[in-house]
Amino acid sequence: MRHHHRAPSSSSSSGSNGGRLAVPHLACAAAFLCLFVFATQSSFFAGDQSSDLDGREVRVLSGFQSSVQQCVAKRGLGLSAHIIDHCNLVLKFPKGTNSTWYNAQFKIFEPLEYKYDVCEAILLWEQYRNMTTVLTREYLDARPDGWLEYAAKRIAQLGADKCYNRTLCEEHLNMILPSNPPFHPRQFHRCAVVGNSGDLLKTEFGEEIDSHDAVIRENEAPVNEKYAKYVGMKRDFRLVVRGGARNMIAIMNGSDDEVLIIKSVTHRDFNAMIKKVPNPVYLFQGIVLRRGAKGTGMKSIELALSMCDIVDIYGFTVDPGYTEWTRYFSEPKKGHNPLQGRAYYQLLECLGVIRIHSPMRAKMKQDWSDVPNRDMIRSAHAAALRLKKSQAGQSGGQGQFGSCKVWGKADPKNNGRVSGSSDMSDLRKYSNYSKWELMPLEKLRKEARDHFIHMEGVSLYKMDGNKLDDLVCVRHALRSEA
Ligand SMILES: *[C@@H]1O[C@H](CO)[C@@H](O)[C@H](O)[C@H]1NC(C)=O
Ligand SMILES: *[C@@H]1O[C@H](CO)[C@@H](O)[C@H](O)[C@H]1NC(C)=O
Ligand SMILES: *[C@@H]1O[C@H](CO)[C@@H](O)[C@H](O)[C@H]1NC(C)=O
Ligand SMILES: *[C@@H]1O[C@H](CO)[C@@H](O)[C@H](O)[C@H]1NC(C)=O
Ligand SMILES: *[C@@H]1O[C@H](CO)[C@@H](O)[C@H](O)[C@H]1NC(C)=O
Repeated sequence: MRHHHRAPSSSSSSGSNGGRLAVPHLACAAAFLCLFVFATQSSFFAGDQSSDLDGREVRVLSGFQSSVQQCVAKRGLGLSAHIIDHCNLVLKFPKGTNSTWYNAQFKIFEPLEYKYDVCEAILLWEQYRNMTTVLTREYLDARPDGWLEYAAKRIAQLGADKCYNRTLCEEHLNMILPSNPPFHPRQFHRCAVVGNSGDLLKTEFGEEIDSHDAVIRENEAPVNEKYAKYVGMKRDFRLVVRGGARNMIAIMNGSDDEVLIIKSVTHRDFNAMIKKVPNPVYLFQGIVLRRGAKGTGMKSIELALSMCDIVDIYGFTVDPGYTEWTRYFSEPKKGHNPLQGRAYYQLLECLGVIRIHSPMRAKMKQDWSDVPNRDMIRSAHAAALRLKKSQAGQSGGQGQFGSCKVWGKADPKNNGRVSGSSDMSDLRKYSNYSKWELMPLEKLRKEARDHFIHMEGVSLYKMDGNKLDDLVCVRHALRSEA
């Protein structure tokens, strides 16, 4: 089980970092970004053990760190990046930043600096560009524990800890379980992810948002004439959490082909709702089940990256001056970790993952020359991957299927049909799945078809949340074989 191996000095290295940076690590324990925890704590590079390292990779990554540092200096609105080594850096808020969010559990205010492992972050986020992030039947079929255990975890109120009765579990999932991936990597060029922050009311981004190939919104976000100037009117995808199920019927009224993606678990309220709306509904794949699924914003970005080349974010509270999280359509919610969130989103922008749009950046509009370009990101990714494999003592496994732990084969009979089962309600039978479920693949944009061919028809899924090295890979017939 190679992925359980760690470089021996890795734990002592992160231990000593933990001592020096005790405060960030404390905050990190309480963080809503489990990703951040992952990136910080699983630093795979041990500074004092560089003898077997490939100097070329270290040089590439060091050069990349400098670009990230410059990017943060230019775009970070006061944030600065301090390089520790070719993988690790610390993002610091300016001295005197007012840290007003109090963590009652640890009795501290939010820290003003955050340590990140850029190598891990770039591996993780580049991986999303090739992933399927919607739960499918082929995924459950491929996982050895797929139907018995994993499926049960995605159904609340099942009344059992496992799917001992598979028929019962299928009844819960059938309505929302496509046979193959309904969406594809590179399906869209530009996507807008619209958060719900109150700062959306400060700038009229509506038209700009609507100019995207697909728009992803969250939960109960209203889309109507009243807010059109600020958030636009285009409705394509919506990521929803449990609590949102009840209000969804009213929200989806008049938007029959907007795709709903349930973030964490399905349950009675969702099932009742799904029977009453014609919209396509799916379940998100890739949440971290053990820690619960927090951070809708981060999941929306994962979803977007799995379909889009460029991900523009609007209405995320990422810029200075927030003391609580506001919403554009209702009273503020009690906020949490504004500084930590801001630092991480800034890092993501400088890793080329997202583009941040906010009232404070109106001047920077459409100028991304400060951000490392795709070629730099690709070579940094390749270097980080080689370095990681060489440190884990893995010689092979560097190809595109190097992280496939479980393999499955799609049922060739399903080719051509993605969603829909025989026991759907009449309303669901008329769902307009065809808006985005592009079958045959010939209808996809060229980049997506090229990717499909490059991947030899294999779809990649996460086994569990943020782990890099344990993918579920399902092979589909390429067109020529079909
Ligand atoms: C920091 O924020 C708190 C709460 O918003 C405020 O009462 C305080 O005056 C602020 N301090 C500074 C130095 O801005
Ligand atoms: C993603 O797919 C592209 C081909 O479209 C490939 O070149 C790249 O290496 C892949 N990246 C990862 C992280 O798997
Ligand atoms: C399994 O669930 C189905 C559907 O709810 C039900 O009809 C059937 O009786 C159950 N089987 C057992 C053995 O409990
Ligand atoms: C949907 O909207 C229409 C007109 O805007 C309204 O007449 C109807 O009652 C609404 N339906 C629901 C379920 O809210
Ligand atoms: C379904 O969506 C497609 C693409 O948006 C559209 O062309 C078609 O008219 C829609 N069909 C129905 C029945 O709404």
